[in-house]
Amino acid sequence: RVYRASTTAPVNIAVIKYWGKRDAKLNLPTNSSLSVTLAQSDLKAHTTASCSQAFSDDDSLILNGEPSPLTTPRSQACLARLRALRKILEDRDNSLPKLSQWPLRIVSINNFPTAAGLASSAAGFAALIRAIANLYELPQSPTELSAIARQGSGSACRSLFGGYVAWDAGTAADGNDSVAVEVAPASHWPEMRALVVVASAEKKGVPSTAGMQQTAATSTLFPLRVEKLVPARMIAMKEAIAKKDFATFADLTMQDSNSFHAVCLDTVPPIFYMNETSRAAVRLVEAINERVGRNVAAYTFDAGPNAVVYYLAENEGQVAGVFKSLLGDKDGWAGDRGTQVQEAPI
Ligand code: DP6
Repeated sequence: RVYRASTTAPVNIAVIKYWGKRDAKLNLPTNSSLSVTLAQSDLKAHTTASCSQAFSDDDSLILNGEPSPLTTPRSQACLARLRALRKILEDRDNSLPKLSQWPLRIVSINNFPTAAGLASSAAGFAALIRAIANLYELPQSPTELSAIARQGSGSACRSLFGGYVAWDAGTAADGNDSVAVEVAPASHWPEMRALVVVASAEKKGVPSTAGMQQTAATSTLFPLRVEKLVPARMIAMKEAIAKKDFATFADLTMQDSNSFHAVCLDTVPPIFYMNETSRAAVRLVEAINERVGRNVAAYTFDAGPNAVVYYLAENEGQVAGVFKSLLGDKDGWAGDRGTQVQEAPI
C-alpha cells in the first residue's frame, strides 16, 4: 500500500527583512524578521508526499515535472529531522507502519512565473515539510515544524502560518528558539491587500543565500541594521499591526526595505537587486502617498527587482488602480513579457 498526503503552502513577503546568518549550517539568522503571508493569492506550492514499503528507489523529487535533487544538505537535514520525529511515534506504538524507513516520493508544482523569482523557496520548503509531517501524522505544532522548515530555507519557516508572522532570531546555539510565531491572523486586519509588480524577466543576480553571507562579512552598515534598526522596527511593527495603524506599517516597511537594499549596496562587491522599474515603483508609491496626503501604499523589495505593494482595500482605486493603469493591466502572469501587476489579497 502507498501512503500519501498532499498540501499547499503560500508565499510570504517580509516587511522586516531577514538578511544575514549567525550560523550557516543550522540556518540561524542574525536578526528577527516579520512577514505577511499572501494566503489568498495563487502564488502557492502544491506538494504531494508518498511512501511505501514497495518503493525500491531512493527518495525522489519531481519539481514542476522535472526530476530535481533531494540530496542537498538542506533537504537532507529536513528529511532526517522529519524521519526522526516519525521514528519516535513508531517506537512508541509498534502497530504503526514503519514509514520512517521507506523511500519518499515527493511531487511538487508551483505556479510562480519563472521571471518573478518570488519567494518560491519559502513556499516550496514550507509545503514539503507540511506534506511529510501530514504523511507521518506528526503531532508537532506549526512553530515546531518551522524550526525544520527554517533549515530548508530561512524564509520558509514563516510560510507555515497565515497572516502576520514573526521569525524570532533566537539566541540558543542549537537554534531551538529560532522559530516562527503568529503575530496576528489575517482576519485581524482583513482590509490588507498586496499588489505584486513583476518588474523584470531578468534572472536573479546574486542568490540570497550567498548575498547575505557577503553582506554580513563586508558591510560596515550591517551591524547598525542588525543591532539597532531591526530590533526597534520589530517592536514598532508589532505595535502597528496590533493597532492596525497602516501609516506606521507603511513607514516601517519602506524603511526596512530601503535599509536592506542599502546594506546590499554597501557589500563588497556591491549587490544591486532593484532596477529602473523597481525605482519607478518606488516613485509611484511616493507620488500616490503625497497626493493623498498620508501613507496609503507601502513598497517592499526582496532579493530581486519585483515590488510588492501593500495597501488597504479602501484605497484600491488610488493604489492598485494607478499601478495597473500605468504599468499594465493584464490578467495573470506573462512570464518575460515585461511589467506585470497582480493583486493578491492576503
Ligand atoms: C530578501 O530565505 O531565501 O527574501 O535561508 O539562505 O534560503 P536562505 O535565504 P532565503 O532569504 C530570503 C531573504 C529575503 C528577506 C526575507 O524573506 O525575509
